[in-house]
Amino acid sequence: MATQERSATDELLKARARYVAAGVSTPPLVVARAEGARIEDTDGNTYIDFAGGLGCQNTGHRLPAAVAAIHEQVDRYLHQCFMVGMYEPYLDVCRRLAELSPCRGDEQKSLLLNSGAEAVENAVKIARAATGRPAVVVFDHAFHGRTLLTMTMTSKVVYKRGFGPFAPEVYRAPGAYPYRDVTTDDAIAGLGALFKSEVDPEAVACVVLEPVQGEGGFIPMPRDFPPRLREVCDHHGILYVDDEVQSGVGRTGPMWAIEHYGVEPDLLVSGKSLGGGLPLAGVTGRAEIMDAVGPGGLGGTFGGNPVACAAAVAVLDEVAGESFQRRARELGELIRLALDGIAARVSSVGEVRGLGPMLALELVEDRATKAPAGELAAATVARARERGLVLLSCGLHGNVVRILVPLVIADDDLERGLEILEESLAGAGT
Ligand SMILES: Cc1ncc(COP(=O)(O)O)c(C=O)c1O
Repeated sequence: MATQERSATDELLKARARYVAAGVSTPPLVVARAEGARIEDTDGNTYIDFAGGLGCQNTGHRLPAAVAAIHEQVDRYLHQCFMVGMYEPYLDVCRRLAELSPCRGDEQKSLLLNSGAEAVENAVKIARAATGRPAVVVFDHAFHGRTLLTMTMTSKVVYKRGFGPFAPEVYRAPGAYPYRDVTTDDAIAGLGALFKSEVDPEAVACVVLEPVQGEGGFIPMPRDFPPRLREVCDHHGILYVDDEVQSGVGRTGPMWAIEHYGVEPDLLVSGKSLGGGLPLAGVTGRAEIMDAVGPGGLGGTFGGNPVACAAAVAVLDEVAGESFQRRARELGELIRLALDGIAARVSSVGEVRGLGPMLALELVEDRATKAPAGELAAATVARARERGLVLLSCGLHGNVVRILVPLVIADDDLERGLEILEESLAGAGT
């Protein structure tokens, strides 16, 4: 680029630096349009999207059925506030969530909110009201949001530095992480120790667990951990809250990641891809628990916005369909095969892991020491962007490269994206 001439993106980056708070971390990418699994920036460059707006585009940018439903809803009304005047799209989403719920019990009900964090907060409120107990147990490597309570529940200092004091009655147990030698037995023993040293299990309202920890490093729980956690919960009358904000709505193939484990949680938290790109999140569970809070105890001005709900009905129908799930399974196999190939050729890959198409590479300085290679992951993401691939890292040390590709990607885009990933990774280390 000639030094005199500034591109449209350069001008927008200047505006970002001038007007937007520094605390929001941003890449040098300004999006002009997006479709399916492709993004175009404000200079007309195109990218293959392996990030999906941070896991919000499982059904692709601008899912046609969602866009049509949005247009139709926009012509009727944009907002009512469900506490002022009820509307069908909210009821439709709650009905679909009831039909699709993985939770224990026959009669399922839902509450709709704006964000994942707000939904996790509300799940805790409901669990406390239903049990009459104050404490919440979370795990190492958890991410549950950025509000005071959910930031407290989150296990990464970058998200917490300078923001204390934190919320009370949040206790952390070891999270299962086989690659780093924390087995299911260790995690269950750690929970037992927590119940001896820090908190009486009879004072615990709920445990909150992501079946595949997202921001924490794409760590799928071992097959036997959720079932054993369920047993512990049942033994002590603790509610099991399944945080599927990132792993749900088809991300791992089936509608909910917990379906891989054969466990029925008490409450499900959904968000991100639920609104097809519009802000929507939910808490779902059996009526007996959900109705523990009396009228007026739950709500919010915008929660369950009609336009977002109209989109969500289309998204849920799409993800519940056999062809979406078949393609998601197929993508999971194709991506894993490609990542295994990369791991065989690039020694900085310590582990390939994930569930279905929710997959990642954990990068290390050395396979023997497993020292996290955070800078390598950051350099890989930056190089990928320069080559036309939008990619994200995650993990406590930022050393995990994760794939949140829209599950509608074409085979040739997927293949090219994976090639760019490998080139960027190999080039970043040199
Ligand atoms: C598992 C999980 N829970 C909760 C949240 C918070 O969601 P939101 O950013 O919509 O508040 C996230 C966001 O990444 C998440 O991954």
